[in-house]
Amino acid sequence: MLYVPGDDDRKLAKADSSGADAVVLDLEDSVAESNRGVARGKVRKFLDDRPPERRDYQLWVRINALDDSALVDLAAVAGGAPDGVVLPKIDGPDDVLRLAHHLDALEVREGVAPGHTKICAVATETPAAVLRLHEFALVRLPRLVALNWGAEDLSAAIGASTNVDATGRWTLTYRWIRSAVLLAAKAAGVQAIETVHVNYRDTEGLRVSCREAAQEGFTGRAAIHPDQVAPINEEFAPSAEDVSLARTIVAAFEASGGEVGTVGIDGHMLDIPHLKRARNVLQLHKHSQRRTTA
Ligand code: COA
Ligand code: MG
Repeated sequence: MLYVPGDDDRKLAKADSSGADAVVLDLEDSVAESNRGVARGKVRKFLDDRPPERRDYQLWVRINALDDSALVDLAAVAGGAPDGVVLPKIDGPDDVLRLAHHLDALEVREGVAPGHTKICAVATETPAAVLRLHEFALVRLPRLVALNWGAEDLSAAIGASTNVDATGRWTLTYRWIRSAVLLAAKAAGVQAIETVHVNYRDTEGLRVSCREAAQEGFTGRAAIHPDQVAPINEEFAPSAEDVSLARTIVAAFEASGGEVGTVGIDGHMLDIPHLKRARNVLQLHKHSQRRTTA
């Protein structure tokens, strides 16, 4: 998900060729408050020039928080039929529900198909939101397709002077939050999106942390610079070895005619969780193939 400041023509001009699965036109923190009106107009035009049936990547909009100018943002962009809305600074799942209700009404007014507009919530930007992450396991939010986490706004909210330790690793609070978001997303049946790698010249560091995130179960990542898109796509795509092993596992279970719950491959016991993981790998592989052949 490549974030593009909504008021910046030079950057908007680079969106179509970025290679990202989703471009997020930003109306929030990368736009100065005095420029929000201009940004809303540019974002709406960008969407109108690319109606849903002509898009070959998803177009999202990050709006401002619900207690800020979210409604003004939504009223301006909903008619452009964004594929989704990123909702920052939530205090919990109720905020996602509130946004869903706003979208219910706006889609009718704008003639957009009901339910078209999906939601990705940035679920860790207030202390209350972090403490309520488990609630995502308890509620049904049909528009919600992803949870993302962020470290910068929370640091400001809790008065932390840093979010990394002397070695550059996330401090305990953020490692814990990251795990909690991963679990909350899986419990809700939505994608877990890794946070930004802010040092956008550090490609090797970006690759290493993408590999770790992908191994842990994150399925995508926010990007802030076009140079980050290809490394992210490459690292989140399963490797050739992963794909070949997954095919072997699925084939072994299929050969048993669905009658057994466990098989042996090269002296290793594999059971149903391995089969599920193998199917996940093949699904991710199919998605990344679609991207490279598009
Ligand atoms: N989307 C689209 N294009 C971008 C881009 C982005 N996020 N970031 C940079 N570019 C473009 C630049 O405009 C430049 O193209 P140009 O020469 O035609 O103007 C080219 O890519 C190279 O950019 P570069 O000079 O390396 O960086 P920069 O100094 O212009 O910008 C940032 C650096 C960090 C200000 C910029 O990457 C940015 O605004 N990122 C998004 C920030 C954001 O959205 N934050 C909120 C989400 S956490
Ligand atoms: Mg922010």
